Amino acid sequence: MATVYVDKKPYQMNPDENLLHGCLSQGLKLPYFCWHPALGSVGACRQCAVKQFKDEHDAHGRIVMSCMTPAAEGTHISINDPEVSAFRAGIIEGLMLNHPHDCPVCDEGGECHLQDMTVMTGHDYRRYEFEKRTFRNQNMGPLVNHEMNRCIQCYRCVRYYRDYAGGDDLNAFASRDTVFFGRYEDGVLENEFSGNLVEICPTGVFTDKTLKHHYARKWDQQFAPSVCVHCALGCNTNAGERYGTLRRIVNRYNHEVNGYFLCDRGRFGYEFVNSERRFHQPVLEGRPTSVALAQRHLAERIANGKVIGIGSPRASLEANFALRTLVGPDRFHSGVADDQARLVGLMLEILRRGPMRTPTLREIEQCDAVFILGEDITNVAPRMALSVRQSVRQQPMEIAKKLKIPLWLDHGVRDATQGAKGPLYIATPYATRLDEVATATFHAAPDDLARLGFAVAHALDSSAPSAEDFPLADEVARALKAAERPLVISGTSCASEAVIHAAANVAMAAHAALSYTAPECNTVGATLMGGRPLSAASQAVQDGNADTVIILENDLYRRAPAAEVDSFLKAAAHVIVLDQLASPTTEKAELILPAGTFAESDGTFVSSEGRAQRFFQVFVPQNDVLASWRWLKPDRWHSLDDVLAEISDALPQLAAVRCAAPSAAFRIAGAKIPRAPHRESGRTAMLVNINVSEPKPPDDPDSPLSFSMEGTSEKPPAALIPFFWSPSWNSIQATNTYQKEIGGPIRGGDAGVRILEPAPANGHAYFGTIPPAFEPRNGEWLLVPMYHIFGSDELSQSAPGIAELVVKPHVAVNADDLTEGTEVEVSCAGGTFRLPLRIRPDLPRGVAGLSAGFPPLAGITLLAGITLPAWGKIARPK
Ligand code: SF4
Ligand code: SF4
Ligand code: FES
Repeated sequence: MATVYVDKKPYQMNPDENLLHGCLSQGLKLPYFCWHPALGSVGACRQCAVKQFKDEHDAHGRIVMSCMTPAAEGTHISINDPEVSAFRAGIIEGLMLNHPHDCPVCDEGGECHLQDMTVMTGHDYRRYEFEKRTFRNQNMGPLVNHEMNRCIQCYRCVRYYRDYAGGDDLNAFASRDTVFFGRYEDGVLENEFSGNLVEICPTGVFTDKTLKHHYARKWDQQFAPSVCVHCALGCNTNAGERYGTLRRIVNRYNHEVNGYFLCDRGRFGYEFVNSERRFHQPVLEGRPTSVALAQRHLAERIANGKVIGIGSPRASLEANFALRTLVGPDRFHSGVADDQARLVGLMLEILRRGPMRTPTLREIEQCDAVFILGEDITNVAPRMALSVRQSVRQQPMEIAKKLKIPLWLDHGVRDATQGAKGPLYIATPYATRLDEVATATFHAAPDDLARLGFAVAHALDSSAPSAEDFPLADEVARALKAAERPLVISGTSCASEAVIHAAANVAMAAHAALSYTAPECNTVGATLMGGRPLSAASQAVQDGNADTVIILENDLYRRAPAAEVDSFLKAAAHVIVLDQLASPTTEKAELILPAGTFAESDGTFVSSEGRAQRFFQVFVPQNDVLASWRWLKPDRWHSLDDVLAEISDALPQLAAVRCAAPSAAFRIAGAKIPRAPHRESGRTAMLVNINVSEPKPPDDPDSPLSFSMEGTSEKPPAALIPFFWSPSWNSIQATNTYQKEIGGPIRGGDAGVRILEPAPANGHAYFGTIPPAFEPRNGEWLLVPMYHIFGSDELSQSAPGIAELVVKPHVAVNADDLTEGTEVEVSCAGGTFRLPLRIRPDLPRGVAGLSAGFPPLAGITLLAGITLPAWGKIARPK
């Protein structure tokens, strides 16, 4: 550490960082706009000025930008020097010249970095009396709102969007003294991470358009720490509610997981919680019924029926365990299709056996050579793609290091590296968004992808088996071998055991980290919990061993072909479903119990990294919705901690999930943690039209959080942070004040506990079953699943903003005898479907891509239940 003197007081600062970073890490108040911990410094706004002195005897000093000056040993600076204070006041006055006086109607008001910095700088009177510069705003689609008059030209948006997230449809356009930040014409922002603009922009230019439809100020919402339910990465979020409506999702910083950023599906998919397709009360034989009658019916079926249960990879561990406890472990079935359960089980076995360790998303960013085998991660595990985009900068950073350019000096590093990219090799059935930053790509059928993987492993270690030489294999092997932090990414997308084996072989041979994606938010947790195969549930009913099926948060029509599910549900005398949204499965239910979403219940998910993370109820709904585990629980369970204690006792592989967050008994100085910002922030009384007194908040037996603004004002541990706020820091930039060091872990440790570590000192044995090379067939196509960030996920499809962006399901082929856009008939084991055709030259001959995970659409049978890859025919309809 370096000793830096600020206004004559010594502070310990990281010498590899800049002075702004050091001052903020020390809790000193220094305003800034263009700098961001994830983006580095460019010195554009001039707001972070300090006075630097040669030594302690220098009385004059010179004004420097703290974000552009290293925190070198013995540096003397002043924040409070009158000349530099006046300089900063002048800067903010200049930035505010054209800024409109519209805070009261601005969606950013009350959580605006510009407001915070204006107050911090002491600018409180506007002298400018002339006409302001104005712009035309753009319609950027259903997710992000644009109000350009509020811009202060900090350039953060374009630096984030273009340089960090890889978008190219947002830019800075300049003419004379005017700079415009937007698209070249109106249109939907194309980048999958566009929603982060809402938090990156320090003013109200980019705001959350979905919030606009049911707006509430930050101080009027109550929040809870939550975990994204839209893929298996487990990004941490804060969910905000008002009057029983979920209003928005914002990023909850977790240094090891999502850092500062979410994907758009995770940020905007929340609106399914407010969907009209929600169940708000129990439904018995098609009619709404009371909770008491529903519970009586459930108890009667348990007492008199031969009951089996089907769990769910999108339900919490607690909900799955409650069902398992209710029906008994021998009658509890995994809610994952057999094929997928087998693949996920295989991945977990590989990761537990080791020696490869599954990396965190932050570690992925640090990797300096990456090999992706079989996964379109932008569409399957989106936030991971953002991390991989940062990883390709790692190797070129060595150029900057050799030139002694500090890595936080963003433009300096970019000038030095000249856009050079480190090794990234992508082998997938079809072209992916990440291909644009790849060193080389290879598009082939899953079996050929696996063969490439085996060949790479062999090139790294001749004792690893291989069937043939691929020219690309040597190149990939060389890159992985030369890297200090190599990484292999694979997963279940190709539904191929061989691909998973091949990825493991490469990781073993390269001594690389290994990351497997998983399909749903709790696929890993549900698989670790175990259960009989899903097909055994059907068999039990057909054999007369079961007459009652309880289905937990699971649309079985997404797991198996419709005809199979139809005959299974028809054969069961009694079908009881707990779920949130109406689905083809709930249509077949005798009893539907309204299940709480992540916003109305507490629970634990295990991410694909193997991190158990707790999400907490944001609000208590004013209807019959209950957390699934509460519908199913035995009388002896009174709180979430009771469920967790039994999980720990019954399932050693899940024993550590108790530690994912503090128990309900946790207090800070005897006080709970408030879900709502405290009263000095100007909160409007809940029932202000009736009474200015707040109604008594509900009790929360399951967590140390209160449904109120009452409680501790201390900062809670990471797993319990409902919102980021500190005195003077109302915007999301308050995150800085929770970190040990700016951009580092949250004080006290990041949220979650890793429960998937490789066994110590285990040897490794290569997998050796290499599939034969893919042979195209005459008149048939190998149908492989094609994933879409907007469309393939079950829940986010019901969010209106996302629904506008959902890709129309289609089949894609590389064929010159078929015509783009025409409707074709696709026949395979799952049935016959009519779908629009897309021509994609990137697909290998004989391989067709089929949109995965879509609900029934007009004229199109459900596509989700087909087990792919499968051979099928594609023909023009007769
Ligand atoms: S739009 Fe926002 S982020 Fe972009 S330059 Fe303007 S103020 Fe900065
Ligand atoms: S990457 Fe996955 S977990 Fe993260 S925000 Fe997106 S959908 Fe949610
Ligand atoms: S934050 Fe330093 S110049 Fe903008």
